[in-house]
Parts: sequence; structure tokens; C-alpha cells
Amino acid sequence: MTMKIGIDRLGLYSPNYYVDLAELAVARGVDPNKFIIGIGQSEQAVPPAAEDVVTMGANAASEFIDDIDKSQLGLVILGTETGIDSSKSGAVIIQRLLDLPRHVRTYEIKQACYGGTAGLMTARDYVAAHPDRTALVIAADIARYGLASGGEVTQGAGAVAMLISANPHIMTVEDDSAFLSADIMDFWRPVYTDLALAKGKYSTEKYIEFFQQAWAEYKRNTGLDLKDFAAINCHLPYTKMGMKALKTVLPDADAADQDRLNANYALSTNYSRRIGNIYTGSLYLALLSLLENAATLTAGDRIGMFSYGSGAVGEFYSGYLQADYRDYLNGAAHKAYLDQRVKLSVADYEAMFNSKLPYAPDDVVTDAALTTGKFRLAGVKDQERQYVRL
Ligand code: HMG
Repeated sequence: MTMKIGIDRLGLYSPNYYVDLAELAVARGVDPNKFIIGIGQSEQAVPPAAEDVVTMGANAASEFIDDIDKSQLGLVILGTETGIDSSKSGAVIIQRLLDLPRHVRTYEIKQACYGGTAGLMTARDYVAAHPDRTALVIAADIARYGLASGGEVTQGAGAVAMLISANPHIMTVEDDSAFLSADIMDFWRPVYTDLALAKGKYSTEKYIEFFQQAWAEYKRNTGLDLKDFAAINCHLPYTKMGMKALKTVLPDADAADQDRLNANYALSTNYSRRIGNIYTGSLYLALLSLLENAATLTAGDRIGMFSYGSGAVGEFYSGYLQADYRDYLNGAAHKAYLDQRVKLSVADYEAMFNSKLPYAPDDVVTDAALTTGKFRLAGVKDQERQYVRL
């Protein structure tokens, strides 16, 4: 019998502030229905200057890190495209903040929104080679396009942390991936700016094309079809995007299968609709949203996963829900956290957006009162970022 490997734990963190997208639409002179219905986003997480991918990633992992056997950890990977240094990985800082063992490998992976899946697949292979070890994979990002830019409605911030192990409690990650890569310029982030550049329409076309090609290859390789899936989760740059891709293949399924996949897709978008794009973490936010909101799923259900990272890489794979997966979720706490966040006026959102640490060698002290997590970027001193555990 082949060994089961997959996601044993899941943790989530997103900043405590959001802007209401109907209010943002009005401020930008846009019909709110375009943002709420046309794009499919209602709220957008806004990070204060004291939070970045390191603090958000550590906060997401802190949800379960003290419940696991840390001595088994052999690998810590941060998947991000919002790195805080071109050389040093955020993973090694997270190792310190979480008080992880010294004898672990720590590094960062970059390939746009695909970095989280790249980390997960690397971790899967690591556990296959070392079944008694575990790996921590963190997908964290801040999506920034700029105030009043075309991409503004698709911003967001957050992190999902995953523990990968043998005999996982939540979902296996099957060795059935179909993937493709091609050098295209649909979205990118030049090193001299933290604002992403995107060819909006072209990027959505490429996303759909990569989905179709990965899915066709997956079907060819596995002989599986839509009827075999309880749900299909997609990378969600905005909640309508995955459905645009799914819609191109759903007519191949019978009515009952279409209804099930449509209903579960809707549940997979609940959290993204309120948080926004978290790039590397978006697909795993969709997984979390599905598992914590779908009452009809049961152990043994096969879940499809489509990962897309601009530039571009696409991958389709699947996993099976495990017997006690519900016992390892934290849905009530996640929903309560999202509900208690502080709504910013558009003016306060703009001020927080502009308060981000500058690309400059200046000393900075961040506003400690604006963070709610256990970890904070206290500022920059002598060009060294100062991270603290609260
Ligand atoms: P846009 O030009 O503002 O939007 O760009 P639009 O004019 O295409 O309208 C969007 C939808 O709203 C349309 O529906 C309209 O009909 C509808 P659709 O044709 O798409 O079904 N609409 C309305 N609906 C109801 N009531 C109304 C109304 N008005 C219009 N009154 C875009 C939108 C997402 C392109 C833009 O925000 C953007 O460029 N975002 C950034 C890029 C992006 O997210 N691309 C997605 C694919 S690439 C990807 O996923 C990778 C990524 O995550 C990065 C990475 O990998 O690292 C981005």
C-alpha cells in the first residue's frame, strides 16, 4: 500500500483591517455592483506597516505550531512573491519567531502565486523520502497594485500555513499532478517597486488557458473526470476568476455534477471574498473556506486543486479528505476573527496603504497599536528589520 502524504494542519492569518469594496467603488466613481458582482469581492484586507509576509506567516503557523511535535520538522518553506529581502529568506526569521528547532532547512520559493504549491509539492516529496519527518509550508503575500489602479479591487493580504506529513489529518496530496510552464508577461513585480504590474485581460485569458491545458493533461494522465470530484478549488485572484475557468469545462458534466461543483465552488470563495488576493496563499484560502463552510463534504471525497502563478505556471492535482478532517479545522474562530475586524474608511485605507515601509535605508518605527497578531515588525534600524514576538 502506498503511503498517504498530505496536509495535516492548516492555519490562517489576515490583517485586522479591511476596506469595504462598495465604499471603495463609490470613491472611485464605479458602480458597486461591478466590484461586488462583476469581480466578486466584498471586502479587502489592509495590512498595517507592522505586518509583512514574515509576521503574517508566523501568525498563521502559530495557530497549530505548539500542538505539533516540533522535533519532527525537517523543512520550513515560505512561498511568497512579497519577499522582504533579495537574499535572506523570510523562512529563517519565521524559524526564530516560532522557536523552531535549529536543525531544519529553511528557505523561500518564488514563482508568483504558484510559490505556495511549489512549496507544498517539495514538502510532499520530502516526506515521501523521510516519512518520519514533517514540513512546514507557509504561503504569504500582500497584493498591491496601487490606489485607483485597475488592479486595486483585487488587492489583499494574508497567509496560510500548512503542516505536511505522512498520514495527514486533513487531506492527502496525491501524486497525480499535471503541470505546465511558459514564459509570458501577464503579471509581474519589478524589483524597484512594490506595486504589481498586470495586463488584466491578458492575465485572465492566460489563467483560463493554463487551467484548460492542465485539466486536459490531468484527465489524460489519470482517466478521471468531473464526476469524480466533490469540489474543485482554484487559485482566486478574485472570486469570479476560478468560475470563469471552470465554466469552460463544466458543460462536459451532467446536471447533478455541475450543481455540486458550482455549490462547492461558491463555498470555496467565502473567505477570499472578504480578504482578497493573497497570491501564493489564495488557493489554500479557498481550500480552507470550502472545508470550513461545506456541510455536505465527507471523508473520502476527492478535491481538485488548480494552482496558477503568473509568468506562468499552472498545476492541477487532487487530494482525499481524511476521516477526522473536521476535528482539525478552526472554522468558528476564523469566521469570528473576520467578523470582528476593523472597517477602515476609504481615506484611512489610503493612509494605511501609503504608510508601508519605504524602499529606502531609513530608520522606521511602526505603530505598535495597529497589530493584533503575536508577531510584529517593530521597524527598521540600521537597515535591519526588527521583528518581535508580543
Ligand atoms: P476591469 O477592466 O476593471 O474589469 O479589470 P472588467 O471591465 O473586465 O469588468 C470585470 C467584470 O465586471 C466583467 O464581467 C464585467 O462585465 C463586470 P466578466 O466579463 O469578467 O464576467 N461588470 C459588472 N457586473 C455587474 N454590475 C456592473 C458591472 N460592470 C462591470 N455594473 C481585472 C478587472 C481583474 C482584470 C483587474 O482588476 C486586474 O487587472 N487585476 C489584476 C490582475 C488579475 O487579478 N488577473 C487575474 C488572472 S492572473 C492571476 O490569477 C495571477 C495573480 O494572482 C498574480 C500571481 O500569480 O502572482 C494576479
